[in-house]
Amino acid sequence: MSDKQTHFGFKTVAEEEKARKVAEVFHSVANRYDAMNDLMSMGLHRVWKRFLALHARIRPGHKVLDIAGGTGDISRLLAQEAGPTGEVWLTDINGSMLGVGRDRMMDKGLMLPVAQCDAEKLPFPSDYFDLVTVAFGLRNMTHKEDALAEMRRVLKPGGKLMVLEFSKVWKPLAPLYDLYSFQMLPRMGELVTKDAESYRYLAESIRIRLRAVPHATLTVEAKQSNNK
Ligand SMILES: C[S@@+](CC[C@H](N)C(=O)[O-])C[C@H]1O[C@@H](n2cnc3c(N)ncnc32)[C@H](O)[C@@H]1O
Repeated sequence: MSDKQTHFGFKTVAEEEKARKVAEVFHSVANRYDAMNDLMSMGLHRVWKRFLALHARIRPGHKVLDIAGGTGDISRLLAQEAGPTGEVWLTDINGSMLGVGRDRMMDKGLMLPVAQCDAEKLPFPSDYFDLVTVAFGLRNMTHKEDALAEMRRVLKPGGKLMVLEFSKVWKPLAPLYDLYSFQMLPRMGELVTKDAESYRYLAESIRIRLRAVPHATLTVEAKQSNNK
């Protein structure tokens, strides 16, 4: 066991402990995750995800890897673009989130490949995917550089990585947003999921790494063909 420390929200924990704690959060919230996303963002998360899908410029037949895909919102949107000749993988480290995502896909008559895996050790060949996406997932990972290196490895030369995350707070909004994220979010979590702590973590995790506001940023990077 190493003695390296990392963030879990505003707490400092041993690196080994972070993955277990993040897993507990998402096991606990999985069944109400989608309802809470709608409630917390007032439906805005759907707009952000559609924005990503629009800018993905997926063509029929493309191969796509959705990392930390959770309940599958991004996978479902991109599968429509890739069509029956494409290949869109919904992946996540958390079986409970994937279970909800798979059930939702089946309800819509969609059959996508699903894999439970850690973004830091992807079970896919190198130079395989046209697009890799990670939406609101990177901040939960313990070794982000390892995960980013794996994403780069599985991308084809010229392939694209799209990272959707929260961005910097606009100063005049900060007091209101603090009130919302640290007071109201845990209360909403308690009411809807009987779990205030998980929503306290989610609010804190946004702040600790990325200093967020209730809008998202999309980062897009292409893999250079001479730099695998
Ligand atoms: C906030 S949810 C985002 C889900 C989905 N992308 C969305 O936008 O609704 C974060 C997800 O990251 C997943 N996750 C955390 N650490 C991970 C890792 N090391 N590898 C893969 N997924 C991870 C969690 O299990 C969780 O489902």
